[in-house]
Parts: sequence; C-alpha cells; structure tokens
Amino acid sequence: MARIASTLTKNPLSTAKVDALVVGVAAVPGSSGTLVLAPGADDVDKAFKKRLLAALAAVGATGKAGEVTKVATLGATTAPTLVAVGLGDRPAKGERWSGETLRRGIGAAARQLDGSRRIATALALANGDDSPADVTAVVEGALLGAYRFGRYRSTTKRAIESVTVVVGNPRDKAVKAAYDRGRAVADAIALCRDLVNTAPADLYPAVLAQAAVDACTAVGLQVEVLDEKALKKGGYGGVLGVGQGSTHPPRVARITYSAGRGAKAKVHLVGKGITFDSGGLALKPAQSMEWMKSDMGGAAAVLSTMTAIGTLKPDVDVVAWIACAENMPSGTAIRPSDVLTMKGGKTVEVLNPDAEGRLVMADCIAAAADEKPDYIVDVATLTGAQLVALGAHVYGVMANDDGLRDALVAAAGVAGEQGWPMPLPPELRKSLDSDVADIANIGDRNGGMLTAGLFLKEFVPDGIKWAHLDIAGPAFNTGEPHGYTPKGGTGVPVRTLVEWLTTLGA
Ligand code: BES
Ligand code: MN
Ligand code: ZN
Repeated sequence: MARIASTLTKNPLSTAKVDALVVGVAAVPGSSGTLVLAPGADDVDKAFKKRLLAALAAVGATGKAGEVTKVATLGATTAPTLVAVGLGDRPAKGERWSGETLRRGIGAAARQLDGSRRIATALALANGDDSPADVTAVVEGALLGAYRFGRYRSTTKRAIESVTVVVGNPRDKAVKAAYDRGRAVADAIALCRDLVNTAPADLYPAVLAQAAVDACTAVGLQVEVLDEKALKKGGYGGVLGVGQGSTHPPRVARITYSAGRGAKAKVHLVGKGITFDSGGLALKPAQSMEWMKSDMGGAAAVLSTMTAIGTLKPDVDVVAWIACAENMPSGTAIRPSDVLTMKGGKTVEVLNPDAEGRLVMADCIAAAADEKPDYIVDVATLTGAQLVALGAHVYGVMANDDGLRDALVAAAGVAGEQGWPMPLPPELRKSLDSDVADIANIGDRNGGMLTAGLFLKEFVPDGIKWAHLDIAGPAFNTGEPHGYTPKGGTGVPVRTLVEWLTTLGA
C-alpha cells in the first residue's frame, strides 16, 4: 500500500498547512464533567480566542478515552478541521499519560479521519514535554491508525497521506531517534498487515517467501529461500508433509541480519507461515476457515520485524526462519496416522492434519538450533485454545527459561502490546505420546495452547533459551476496529519483538 509521509516540526499547530489538527482533551477526575485541553494545544486555543473547550463541550466532548470530536475551525487556524481526541482522566500530579494511551488516542483520530489528506498533531506534547517514548508512540499511533488496505477495492477512497508531529525540539538527537524508530516500526507493521490481509490465492508459500526477499534485501539483509528440493535435501519433513496436499509447494526463507563485531547476542526467530489453513483432511467447518488467511501472521510479523531491525541496526545478530506452507485437503495430503521424519530425525505421528503449525515450526526450530544461537523465539497463530484462554488481545508467552519469558512479557508492556506468561506443565507431555512414533502431533485438548508449546519444546536442545508466542487471536482483528487497530491483520507482536531485540542490543 502507499506509504504515508511523516515529518517532525516545532512549528505551532495553529499555522500548520494541513486538513485537520489533532489535540488531546481529558476529563478532570472527580469534577463531574470538567474538560481540559492536554498540553500542546495552547496556540490553537489562543487562535480560538480561548473558547476551544467551550466549542468542544458544546458538541458533546467529555474527554473519555478514545472519543473523537470534530469541530470546524472557521478560519481560526490554517487547517479547516479540528479533532479532539479523549485521553481519559487527566493524570494526577507527577504522573503521565502512558505511551499506549497517546498511541491509541492519535490512532483513533487517524482511523476516523477519512476525509483529510494531511493531519498534524500536538499529542506528542501531551505530557508537557517531548519525551522520546511519547514521540515514538504518537508517530506509531498516527501511522497505524491511518493504515488502510486498499488492494482489492476498485475505487480508491480518500485517505491520510501525511502526518506532521509537533515536538519541542525536532533537532534533539533523542527526539529524532525516537521518531525514526516509530517510523520504522509503523512501516514494519503496515507490511505485516498487508501480508496478513492479502487473499490466500495471491499469497501462497512462494509469494510469502519472495515477500521476505523483497522487503528484507531492500534494507540490506541477506535472504535465502529453500524450495521443495532444498527442503527435501535439508530433511524438513514437517514443512514438506504439511505442504504436500497443496498445488502450491512449501518454502522456507532464512533471513540474516549481522550486527558485526558489536553483537551482544545471537537470536533466531521462527514464524509460522501457513498461507491458508483449511485444516487439511481434518477439514475445518466453514466458519472456522473464514479467517485462516491469517495463519501466516507469525511469519508476517517475524519478517516485518526483520525489516525494522535492518533499519534500526541494534547490536544483536538476528536470523529469521519463515516457514511457509499451505494446508489443503487433496489426494496427496497428509493423512491422519501418517508418520513424518522431522528435521533432526525425530518422528511424528500426524493424528490430526489440522495441527499443522507445530509441524512446520518444529522443523525450523530444529534448523535454528543447529546454529547454536543464545535464544530462539518462535511466533505462531498456533491454537484456538489461545483464544479460549486469553482472548483476542493478549497473546500467550511460554518458554523453557523464566527470565526470557518475563523479558518478552515486559517488552510487550513497554511497546504497548499485551503478552501474558503461560506455563508448560510437564504433566501434559505424556498426552503427546504416540503408539508408533517418537511423538504425536496432538495431545490433551484441555490446555491445548500449552500442549502445543510442549510439542515445540521437544525440538529445542538443552542449553538454548527458547520462547514461544501463541498469537492466534491477537494477530487478526475479527471484531470492531479500536484505537490504532483496524479490522484484519494487526501487526502483533512486531512491537514486542523490536523492543526486546533493541533492548538486548543496548
Ligand atoms: N491455525 C489454527 C489455530 C487458530 C485457530 C488460529 C483460530 C487462529 C484462530 C491451527 O492450525 C489449528 O487448527 N489448531 C487446532 C489444533 C488442534 C487440532 C489440536 C485447534 O486449535 O483447533
Ligand atoms: Mn490448523
Ligand atoms: Zn494453522
């Protein structure tokens, strides 16, 4: 999709040559309805002869979080439209609005500003300064909220083309770096969303692998694609087994970012790239298949994260494995009770061809482990049980190392995403025992997210710290849009991964 332009400026909002201005409003707690302007909007208020709040209150603004109120400026400012976004209660003295509150606020405004081509905002100043974290949040929120997926529309709707972010000092190194980071992350998420939203007929395994080549070589990374011949030679029995039912053969893309001599750690990421999950011979009912173009959400997030890493260049070596296959029923499809020999030699009895994600992931986890990294983090829309347990906003974080698990959960919190620690109870492992092979691909249905995690854990050798993110729900929004999140692909957990990797490299 078309890239949305963005700039930093210290010019006052009231003189910005744009179509709409976005400011923050808040409720004063315990005041029964007093509305206040968030810092950053003083010059606009002055241009309104100090009657901006009165104008907003007159059309119903309350300051409630996410509320979007529009008023005409009637010449008071250069821009014809003013948008006030509710930020919720004004923080107590000494406290601040969180980055995520600002991100959601500007995101909700941008999402609902279809008629405006250019917008400008002072929300990065809402806490009274231009702290780098707030600048990043506002750049991200504006660009993510302005995101549109137009590939299949025959008429192009008017959409936001540029975002101007007002800060105190755009030349300040930390402010500039924070802006660049928000920009890189938002671009990565837009790519992730585009890939997830693309129809599966247009995004089969070879296309997904090529998307990794195109996006990652553009930022200077190395990408190698294994086709079915190379996969056979490499022993990728899981990827080949899942892919064998489709007319579109599977692929694995391997992306490399090298930090050079300063590298503080070696990380491998693995992403589930099932370009469509029909369930295979365990065919899903139509309702459950409706959203299964999103079953490559893990792969899309991982490859998009690599584009941000290529741009931001943290001091950490990162290799990414994009495991691409289409899970289809056919005369060549894998059967229940077939046995696969996986990369590394373990055998798996496929009792349910709809538990395909763990098969492609296990091969790539084994391939990653062969290179002896310090960390492996895998990302997959792996189980419906994740949705049952944690819902559509919170992904599950499982690991063989508590420190790694907690670091990822913490990174999610800092970045404005939600991950939650989940256990890998050893008691569930025996439910994966097979009568004929080393392991079966399904186990206890109760705690299905954890059983799937335990399956993957079998492919991680001792001595490598490994974490598994089950993003089945959070990768794709089937509900109403909210904040900066549209319907469809969300971009979760790109922000978590970028935050964790840059912290590791700091
Ligand atoms: N891709 C699905 C998981 C999924 C479900 C993702 C809903 C997003 C939304 C996965 O391949 C799958 O089918 N899992 C099965 C596993 C079961 C057969 C053990 C499931 O969760 O039902
Ligand atoms: Mn499945
Ligand atoms: Zn799947």
